[in-house]
Amino acid sequence: MNRIESVCYSSCISVLASFGVLACSAPPEGESAVTQGNQELLGDPVTGVNADLLTEAKAAFQTVESINDGVGPIFNERSCGGCHANGAVGGAGENIERRFGRFANGAFDPLANVGGSLRQLFSLGNFNNPNLPPASRGLCQAGNPTLCCIPTDVNPPQATVRDAGRLTTPLFGLGLVDAMPDSFFDGLAAAEPSAIRGVVSRVPVVLPNPGDPTQSVNSTRVGRFGWKAGVATLLQFSADAYLNEMGISTQSCFRGTNILAFAVENAPNAPGGSLAEGCDDLAPFQSAANVAAGIPRTTDDAVGPCDGSRTEIQDDVFLFAAFMTTLAPPPRDLSDQASVTRGQPLFTSTGCAGCHVTTTFRTPANPFPVDIGDGVETARVPGNFAFNPYSDFLKHDMGSLGDQIGNAGDSLAVTRQMRTAPLWGLRFRNHLLHDGRAGDVATAVRAHDGQGAAARDAFNRLNAADQHNLTQFVRSL
Ligand code: HEC
Ligand code: HEC
Repeated sequence: MNRIESVCYSSCISVLASFGVLACSAPPEGESAVTQGNQELLGDPVTGVNADLLTEAKAAFQTVESINDGVGPIFNERSCGGCHANGAVGGAGENIERRFGRFANGAFDPLANVGGSLRQLFSLGNFNNPNLPPASRGLCQAGNPTLCCIPTDVNPPQATVRDAGRLTTPLFGLGLVDAMPDSFFDGLAAAEPSAIRGVVSRVPVVLPNPGDPTQSVNSTRVGRFGWKAGVATLLQFSADAYLNEMGISTQSCFRGTNILAFAVENAPNAPGGSLAEGCDDLAPFQSAANVAAGIPRTTDDAVGPCDGSRTEIQDDVFLFAAFMTTLAPPPRDLSDQASVTRGQPLFTSTGCAGCHVTTTFRTPANPFPVDIGDGVETARVPGNFAFNPYSDFLKHDMGSLGDQIGNAGDSLAVTRQMRTAPLWGLRFRNHLLHDGRAGDVATAVRAHDGQGAAARDAFNRLNAADQHNLTQFVRSL
């Protein structure tokens, strides 16, 4: 069954692409069972998306922002595409972010009071803001009223976990994953053997997607994005990355609620919002009317007062999510057919498929759109679309491979949990594992520990030819 499911992927995609309908026939027996259908190229959109919106959304994803647009005061890069670039726009990347934190009495502390857990790698340094408000003048350097001085974010001395790395992940196909209902992930967890069963990551939705009637402010949804499955939707990840990667703060309205979770500027080794007003960047201040409506003066991009039951998502945030929604899954590569065909059963027999499930995912018949709030400007994945990410999107205790970063109060065991990394499109990447420590599949497998230890040992027991075949199967996905 596993074999049929994973082979089905290529035939479903090609049928869907040509006829807009889903059909999936059983593969022929024997080695010829693994065949390649016509698939989208890496970075292509899934079928049926609005081409004009896609062009605009892709451009937004690639736009390099500046200090005048709101980049800073601390940041990691100036465009989404600057990091997500391997193979095609939206790909994985070379950037490895750093996090820190502290264990005290067995509980994790992200040290938010000193700017944790994410440590941004760049700061604006010293710059002049001629419009600095009177209260902020001269604070940085005596006799120099308009100078701002922004130090870099450093590992604070009290941190016991330092420089935990987080590699940039690829975004291909993730709109399809966003469309999956929570119950699907519950089903995957229930089907796993108890020794390796993953944890369904349930998290609050901070920025709901207006297109999904089941989401509202602080409703719970299955977290499926990021190395720790800490974020439930692409829309929220967009606002989060805009703020925490690029330093661009945004405000949105959802059914009359003012969403300020991403509106407050970060500060180096200090709580968000603690820099002198005007020393965050050179983006224009918010209008008096917006400030009266509760929006911080230093928020970079705001939609304005959330009067009545107004819903509007900040437009860049929407466009990033729209772009990611349209990205097709990576195509398979079955050119080394003999090895791939031999490696496929080993993927199951060594236990990889316990977490990197071979289950075929299928989007709902009518997936919700990603919506800016007007019901008109939307991006939507196709319905009944079958795809195989080779991940359960659940968190597993990976023992020594876990990065020991978590939320306030998490135990050591919880901080060792990592999301099963999707294996599709792996061959387009140079670095593997959350901190990029591995350069090839075998090295990545040998670092598996905890719930992954048995599969690691089974891999190590294979002879060299079978290790090669299994690796080639993984690289074909
Ligand atoms: C400095 C590099 C960098 C920039 C800039 C960046 N990202 Fe990322 N992105 C990352 C890293 C690193 C991760 C993994 C984060 C984690 O899990 O801790 C990631 C993960 C993601 C994910 C989750 C993917 C998954 O595998 O679940 C999404 C979605 C995403 N980024 C979207 C964006 C968007 C949208 C932008 C622009 C607003 C952006 N990123 C800008 C580095 C970057
Ligand atoms: C207990 C669940 C589990 C099992 C079993 C398992 N993995 Fe993983 N795998 C993970 C998790 C979790 C990660 C992410 C690790 C991290 O965060 O660094 C991962 C990461 C990987 C990566 C790196 C992917 C990337 O995006 O960097 C590869 C390659 C991989 N696994 C292959 C395998 C193979 C091959 C097997 C079987 C021999 C296997 N895994 C068995 C859970 C598992």
